[in-house]
Amino acid sequence: MSATAEIQAKHAKYVLTPWLAQGGLAAPVIVRGEGRHVFDADGTKYLDLGSGLIAVNLGHGHPSVVKAIQEQAAALCYAAPGLFNEQRAELAAELSDISPWARGEGCRTFFTTTGAEANDDAVRLARSITGRTKILTAYRSFHGSTGTSIMLTGEDRRFGGEPGGPGIMRFFAPYPYRSPFWAKDNEEETVRAIEHLERTLVHEDPKRVAAILIEPVVGSNGVIVYPDGYLKALRELTEKHGILLIFDEVMTGFGRTGAAFASQKFGVVPDMMTFAKGVTSAYIPLGGIMIREKLAGTWDQKALPSGHTYSGHPMCVAAGLAAVRAYKEENLFTRANEIEGWLKSGLATLAEKHRTVGDARGVGAFFALELVKDKKTKEPLVAWQGDGPGVMKTFYAELRKRGVITFGKFNCTMVAPPLTVTKAEVDEGMVALDGALTALEATL
Ligand SMILES: Cc1ncc(COP(=O)(O)O)c(C=O)c1O
Repeated sequence: MSATAEIQAKHAKYVLTPWLAQGGLAAPVIVRGEGRHVFDADGTKYLDLGSGLIAVNLGHGHPSVVKAIQEQAAALCYAAPGLFNEQRAELAAELSDISPWARGEGCRTFFTTTGAEANDDAVRLARSITGRTKILTAYRSFHGSTGTSIMLTGEDRRFGGEPGGPGIMRFFAPYPYRSPFWAKDNEEETVRAIEHLERTLVHEDPKRVAAILIEPVVGSNGVIVYPDGYLKALRELTEKHGILLIFDEVMTGFGRTGAAFASQKFGVVPDMMTFAKGVTSAYIPLGGIMIREKLAGTWDQKALPSGHTYSGHPMCVAAGLAAVRAYKEENLFTRANEIEGWLKSGLATLAEKHRTVGDARGVGAFFALELVKDKKTKEPLVAWQGDGPGVMKTFYAELRKRGVITFGKFNCTMVAPPLTVTKAEVDEGMVALDGALTALEATL
């Protein structure tokens, strides 16, 4: 047995892999990363077209983040959250500085380890601020896999967490390609989506709603960019009813859409933002909640109702601080605006050529292909709640054969490279996607 086959066998025998049926798993054994590429144990090089899980925004092995981790490990590996720590303070100050509240009140950050925990805590803090209990989230969303965040989630990954706790209600948000509102255009989609949300609020009683928590661009459920005006109208509606607006920026944060946060990209200022992933370029787990100053003062006299052993862990905040400084120094928060043009035209060419590409959409360096059986009927290539015969598995295997790794959900495939990607690397990705789509279509 080859060394690779031995590791694969051991992995399959002892490791439980998230979200997947465990039988027959055989992924490449990744041993090294450099820039936009990762390498497996046999030396095969793969272009990382999904930035890990839309997280490795700086690309792999950024030297200043690696150095910060090494230096922090040598100096101090742990300090309890109740003790103060320089890197923690510096990172929180940097976050305030790049936040949508930077020109006004600023913000304070509560650190967690993951995005899921951040959303769990955001809900608790929103309830603590408002004294209200209900939380509204969108169908076709993902917010994490812990106790509350799995219940915030608006798709089938929630089912394993059900029945869960009470107090979370869901609504339909815009989805221009498959309008839930029978809208003929984006303008109508926005108007009807807001009407639907207003009606939902009437039935739930807006005075009982603490927060609406939403991904400003839907991420793993297929990169859905809301039509113009939707997020602004959402902000107005929440303000009217004294409801907090929480943006889940776990995927959209740290330059993914062409600004530090999607909030700035779309010019809509929420009350809180949750983040994770890109804050350290995923090198070390770190998440958190940024809370605008006027709300953060809530806990100046009364105790903050949450805490974790790893809140503001020195290793994690040191990595976060180095990553945020790298984004700033290398102008990476806005780099996705350049990448957007390359992805848009490359994916539009694929959509024109391939009968299975129903929609190619996105913003910044955050795109997806939605695959269909028939472009006219828009019937999804695999069912919304599952891919019985493994059609998408075949597609990802074909991509890997062509030196590209990415991921997706149901009939949607992520195309979201690191923010340091070059035009030549994007072109390399397009060639692989083209080949994999051709191979997939030959099997249908
Ligand atoms: C939008 C969004 N929120 C929350 C999460 C959960 O983050 P984590 O996996 O760090 O718990 C994810 C993970 O993919 C996400 O995409």
